[in-house]
Amino acid sequence: AKNPMWSGRFSESTSELVAAFSESVSYDARLYRQDIAGSQAHARMLAKVGVISQSDADVIVDGLDRVLGEIESGAFTWKTALEDVHMNIEARLTELVGDAGKRLHTGRSRNDQVATDIRLYVRDSIDVLLQLLDTLAEGLLGLAEQEADSIMPGFTHLQIAQPVTFGHHMLAWREQVLRDRSRLVDCRKRLNLLPLGSAALAGTVYPLDRHYVAQQLGFDGVTENSLDAVSDRDFAIEFCAAASLILVHLSRWSEELIIWSTPMFGFVALPDRFCTGSSIMPQKKNPDVPELVRGKTGRVIGDLNALLVLMKGQPLAYNRDNQEDKEPLFDAIDTVTMCLRVYADMVPHIVCKREACRAAAAKGFSTATDLADYLARRGLPFRDAHHVVGAVVGLAAQRDCDIAELSLETLQGFSPIIEADVYGHITLEASVSARKTYGGTAPDQVRAAIARARSAKP
Ligand code: ARG
Repeated sequence: AKNPMWSGRFSESTSELVAAFSESVSYDARLYRQDIAGSQAHARMLAKVGVISQSDADVIVDGLDRVLGEIESGAFTWKTALEDVHMNIEARLTELVGDAGKRLHTGRSRNDQVATDIRLYVRDSIDVLLQLLDTLAEGLLGLAEQEADSIMPGFTHLQIAQPVTFGHHMLAWREQVLRDRSRLVDCRKRLNLLPLGSAALAGTVYPLDRHYVAQQLGFDGVTENSLDAVSDRDFAIEFCAAASLILVHLSRWSEELIIWSTPMFGFVALPDRFCTGSSIMPQKKNPDVPELVRGKTGRVIGDLNALLVLMKGQPLAYNRDNQEDKEPLFDAIDTVTMCLRVYADMVPHIVCKREACRAAAAKGFSTATDLADYLARRGLPFRDAHHVVGAVVGLAAQRDCDIAELSLETLQGFSPIIEADVYGHITLEASVSARKTYGGTAPDQVRAAIARARSAKP
């Protein structure tokens, strides 16, 4: 059958192969809510400016409500022959209400229609993600508070560096979340402009009131240039970039959680409901959730790349290539939403195994810097102090003990300025509580950071 939307120009119908090749309704049907809201706003505006009658507008708006009802109840039949979500909905509207339905597309093109729908869809998705990021940040704050005094090794090069607190580590993760949040807020600002009214590419001859439509759909304003508006997918790319960074962060946490939950580390226990067992090895409790999150990060980075490559060769204005924006974009949205959902749920229930964390920090001479600082404060130039402590560590390593286990006599053999009070500086507790610079790991600083976070909230 010829496509009724454009059969006027055509002498034969689209081949079955081309119809199957070019359809998008199998994946863009999910835009139905945004598409209907956009069409209703457009119809109301057409009546307001006198392009169609008020009664036609009313019939269209009611008809679209009926279509919405059919879609949500599952009664709607999506037809591949009608190509995409837009034409499926418009065709059904016309079936239901007759001629008024045929007036809906006045002054509009699918090019500005789809651009509007996707912006609305991404905006709605961002609003969900912002909530999830807030929940996650809140969960981290709670965990940080609970573990503000819990000592664990801090790592550089994954080698034990200096003792830190588990709470401090959780607050580090939280900073990533806050930046991710502000990136989404920023992306939302730039995308929240209405493209409708740009029509196919050049604008339209009808006296459309674009600002009125923008207002009805919750846009902050209208796009400035019709050629740009129908071809711009920057917002989708920005969104995928922000989503990629969210997942890169979650992936890094995943890596830590996976390592920390091995028996060799044993720093944390993940709740059973976030783990799975093995079909053969009865003892296994595997950190599948962090592993999957780490794995899914690759998909979203792939989605970002797909969109960048999709855009790079496109001349102005709309090109059909752009139909290919949807699957990567939707995949990124679905994936980042799911990952944030499980992490927001899991994070508050991570159990810090304090003994194991502390024991690990006691290994690896993690307070060696504190001994060097002790010597430097007593007048030895820091470089010399560094050298002396290096030798102390060498001896402790030989004896397989911590530097705090060496006798005062032994220590004084390395430097006569060492006195008995040294042991008050090289314990784990002394080490962390001495790091009281703003943003440092001292439990008091961690608590101060938590207090700031709580009072900064609206
Ligand atoms: N399904 C199309 C898309 O996603 C809608 C726009 C089609 N416009 C066109 N001129 N063929 O981009």
